[in-house]
Amino acid sequence: MSHFHQITDEQPDHVKKLNLENKGCMLVGIREVQITDIPLPILQPDGVLVKVVSTDNDMHAYSSGGVGGRPITEPVIMGHESAGEVIAVGSAVTSHKVGNRVAVEPGLPCRRCINCKEGRSNLCLDYLYCGAPNAKGSIQKYFALPADMAPKFPDNVGWDEAGSIQPLAIGIQIGKRVDLRPHQTLAVMGCGPIGLITAAVAHAYSVKKIIGIDINPTRVEFARKYISPITGKPIFDHVFLNSPLPAVSLKHKYETDPALVKAISDLPSGPGGDVEPTQANGHESTVGDMKWENAIVRAAGWLEESGLAEAGGVDRVVEASGTEDCCLLGVALAKQGGTYLQVGLSHIQTMLFPNVAVTNKELDLKGITRYTSSCFPSAIDLLSRGMVDLKPLISKTFPLDRSQEAFEAVRAGKDIKIIIKNQE
Ligand SMILES: NC(=O)c1ccc[n+]([C@@H]2O[C@H](COP(=O)([O-])OP(=O)(O)OC[C@H]3O[C@@H](n4cnc5c(N)ncnc54)[C@H](O)[C@@H]3O)[C@@H](O)[C@H]2O)c1
Ligand SMILES: [Zn+2]
Repeated sequence: MSHFHQITDEQPDHVKKLNLENKGCMLVGIREVQITDIPLPILQPDGVLVKVVSTDNDMHAYSSGGVGGRPITEPVIMGHESAGEVIAVGSAVTSHKVGNRVAVEPGLPCRRCINCKEGRSNLCLDYLYCGAPNAKGSIQKYFALPADMAPKFPDNVGWDEAGSIQPLAIGIQIGKRVDLRPHQTLAVMGCGPIGLITAAVAHAYSVKKIIGIDINPTRVEFARKYISPITGKPIFDHVFLNSPLPAVSLKHKYETDPALVKAISDLPSGPGGDVEPTQANGHESTVGDMKWENAIVRAAGWLEESGLAEAGGVDRVVEASGTEDCCLLGVALAKQGGTYLQVGLSHIQTMLFPNVAVTNKELDLKGITRYTSSCFPSAIDLLSRGMVDLKPLISKTFPLDRSQEAFEAVRAGKDIKIIIKNQE
């Protein structure tokens, strides 16, 4: 199947009569998009045709010129984070009507493979994902999709926010994977859109204390001012500015800096979490050993400042930067028996791994791929009940024709989210 979903090639008469012309945003290379005239998608008997109103932007595909580690071999229509209004419904559809406000759920599982059968449809072996090379994306003026992939949302969810329902659905899946519960503590590594949304979901779930880490001062400032719609106070309890972890041994400092020795020896990471075995084993410190020493010292400082040192670290870590330093720092921040979730994707395949600390802390290490089917309804529910507010994340909107500028503006790092207005 080369389309998001296609049973028939015949456009129904009631759509032909609408006389619509379509255009979309094509990814043609790394950081290069073009707005081109494209055919109107064909409304399927079980589908809805949506006039797309707003779309969040897919920075990963834009920056890497590919999707999910696969480089594009021919231009693809971008977009997997959209919302719009139903303008036509297929002959077999009873669930939707013209005028419904709907989100675009971008992943269509096959329902037949072993992962689908085991209920893990996000790991479908034949997944069609909008904006990936095998399925057209939703940065178009009009988009057709199966009706059951177009969840409705109420009027009190604004169009711009609705464009970001998909990242919020990912935030909900993050909450499930990392097993967020009230009265826990959480460290979020990276305060980009995903990190901020993770914190917002955790806050809505009544997580007790949330700390954030970012290397970009603008993002740190932003995270500190991200206000809860529930309490009117900042969502993060502490946000720390990170800097690159030096690959320099701290061993020479141990003799002269008793506070450092104490900070490390007080760490609750158990034997192997500290640096002694490296010395005792008598081998030269590796780059990994040296970065790890710096990670545990820095993490100890943050835990102290957050009032979490006594608890021995945080219960849950969500890594949402995709960087090696944050992986090391995240493991260093986790308390024994805690859970570490890797969300961030990097452009490289392997990184340093703090194997000794992970075993000694007996951490649960997990990964995550996108979202599962219940996440869209849950995201809509949180937004419509005012438990999560995405509006502060959206600083600008751009018309479809200026999509390239929208992507570049997000890349520049000052804005968190920029919404493309597909009809403007
Ligand atoms: N697994 C999944 O299903 C899934 C889904 C969506 C996004 N992602 C990935 O999650 C990550 C976060 O997404 P996003 O949209 O928020 O990306 P983003 O790039 O906007 O945010 C990443 C943040 O990490 C910060 N950062 C970078 N290096 C850092 C460091 N050394 N220390 C601390 N902070 C650092 C950046 O300043 C930025 O604010 C990305 O890697 C993205 O590809 C994964
Ligand atoms: Zn499948």
